[in-house]
Amino acid sequence: MCGIVGYIGPRQAAELLLEGLRRLEYRGYDSSGIAVVNGHGLKVMKAAGKLSMLEQQIGDRMPSGTLGIGHTRWATHGAPTTPNAHPHTDQSGRIAIIHNGIIENSTSIRKALEARGHTFKSETDTEVLAHLVGEFYQGDLEDAVAQALRDVDGAYGLAFISADEPGVLVAARKGSPLLVGVGENEWFVASDASPLLQHTRSVVYLDDGELVVLTRDGYRVRNLQSTRISKPVNQIDWDLAMVERNGYPHFMLKEICEQPESLCNTLRGHLLDDEGTSRVHGLNLSDDELKQVGRIVITACGTSWHSGLIGEYMLEEMARVPVEVEYASEFRYRNPVVDHRTLVIGISQSGETADTLAAIREAKRRGARTVGLVNVVGSTIAREVDGGIYLHAGPEVGVASTKAFTSQVAALALVTLRVARLRNLSILQGRQFIEALRRLPEQISEILDRTSEIEALADRFLKTTSNALYLGRGVNFPVALEGALKLKEISYIHAEGYPAAEMKHGPIALIDENMPVVFIAPRDAVHSKIVSNIEEVKARGGKVIALINAGDTEIERLADATFAIPETLDLLTPILTSIPLQLLSYYVAVARGCNVDQPRNLAKSVTVE
Ligand code: M6R
Repeated sequence: MCGIVGYIGPRQAAELLLEGLRRLEYRGYDSSGIAVVNGHGLKVMKAAGKLSMLEQQIGDRMPSGTLGIGHTRWATHGAPTTPNAHPHTDQSGRIAIIHNGIIENSTSIRKALEARGHTFKSETDTEVLAHLVGEFYQGDLEDAVAQALRDVDGAYGLAFISADEPGVLVAARKGSPLLVGVGENEWFVASDASPLLQHTRSVVYLDDGELVVLTRDGYRVRNLQSTRISKPVNQIDWDLAMVERNGYPHFMLKEICEQPESLCNTLRGHLLDDEGTSRVHGLNLSDDELKQVGRIVITACGTSWHSGLIGEYMLEEMARVPVEVEYASEFRYRNPVVDHRTLVIGISQSGETADTLAAIREAKRRGARTVGLVNVVGSTIAREVDGGIYLHAGPEVGVASTKAFTSQVAALALVTLRVARLRNLSILQGRQFIEALRRLPEQISEILDRTSEIEALADRFLKTTSNALYLGRGVNFPVALEGALKLKEISYIHAEGYPAAEMKHGPIALIDENMPVVFIAPRDAVHSKIVSNIEEVKARGGKVIALINAGDTEIERLADATFAIPETLDLLTPILTSIPLQLLSYYVAVARGCNVDQPRNLAKSVTVE
């Protein structure tokens, strides 16, 4: 959701803030703004739309000052207009605030403030909080923020500055990520590490209920009750080059092309070839505990939920453990049946998705063991689960998730292998699985060498369509869902993913000569079944684009076009079949002139429910 950055130190803040916002824009791009304090007061500049609008507005009138805050917004309360853009100020106009999250009791606070004579310029919950802090302010920003936050319900990552205290930045966290960057005589706050990497790799992760005060001499962390908290300084192992486009036209294409390497990084150090199993110490579960797991619940959102579905196929097939895959947003609000014999696996690229985090907390409350498959090191989910595996896919900046997805599937394969070997899988089968896993990066490279074929398919079948259907069976049914989601989110074409055999129970009514149907049809256990489904679509005039294995003349004869993927074990095919589908949606979106990395209405990290 929204991106937050703040700075205090010897350098001019405004330029640093704008550069930070450039790196944070993937978190939201409805509006942006900065506020800077100098000896003459507080200067706030903001604009609706992308960051470039703010940059245009500022032009060469860069406000001077060495203390400031900046924000890029994903709208929750109020339309994406300039008045609703952050930073917001209090009634006096001397305190500025930026916020990521939602203040749930803002309506009642607003009414009370209005009754006391406050007037508001925006429809946002954030401005209400700015006014509340202003009411408490008596020359001590830290104290005013702490008092105001005691009256507030909801989620927040916040930063405040005041014209009356040009050497103080106060920030606080509850439910929305926030970290402190520790530089050389300068300090930052940010909602994630991307705006800090250019300046420092030393960070302090704030936890819920914590408040940090940055001054020109350093920082200190406390809770709302004034108790000092000592926090470790962590080193981030990502570097600046990893969050740059490096010559690619879009982050999404860069991240698709990084998959041979990201997959290697996910698998590195986990495969035990001789024993035909995996080493997953990070799960913090002994072999005995893993054997005793009675049931696995996988919980996640969006693309991560799709990888969870693939995990279900793998775990049930190979390890014979019952698995359920739950949308985190549903799981958290029903009365889920989990106990100490249930292993709950939360999957999240960002490690900050509000619903996934809440689902994991709910599972913990009910006594389940929780593990996380998370990409962002130090993220909230990674810190709250009982154990887990980091994906090590590197930063994913494109809003459409690509390399994190294949790494999630690989991490699920590692968990599956370990559990299966402890139960029923033979050493020989385990070794075959490892061999297949090790071949995947090279096989992905083979697919990536043929991107022009996919570009041609995008141009021929999908560029001008309004609808598309993605069909797969077995472990490639979730790939159909993921392929459809990718197309929807970046090209705004309506697409549905379906189990191929379910088509005749409804969606078949949609099929005519204008409907492109993408089949995921490698030569696997259900191949003959999917061939029949292709026949059914062709009989009704649908256009069939099929992902197949080389030499599949049967489908080549039926389909309007095919793309061949290398052979692998059935359960690992999703890691290969998903790559052409990522590319397909990418090229369709580019051909339609869409903003691939910043699709409308979306944000990379969904920190509100
Ligand atoms: O960071 P997470 O993996 O928890 O994010 C979950 C979803 O928000 C995310 O996968 C979303 O669906 C992507 N935009 C998909 O491309």
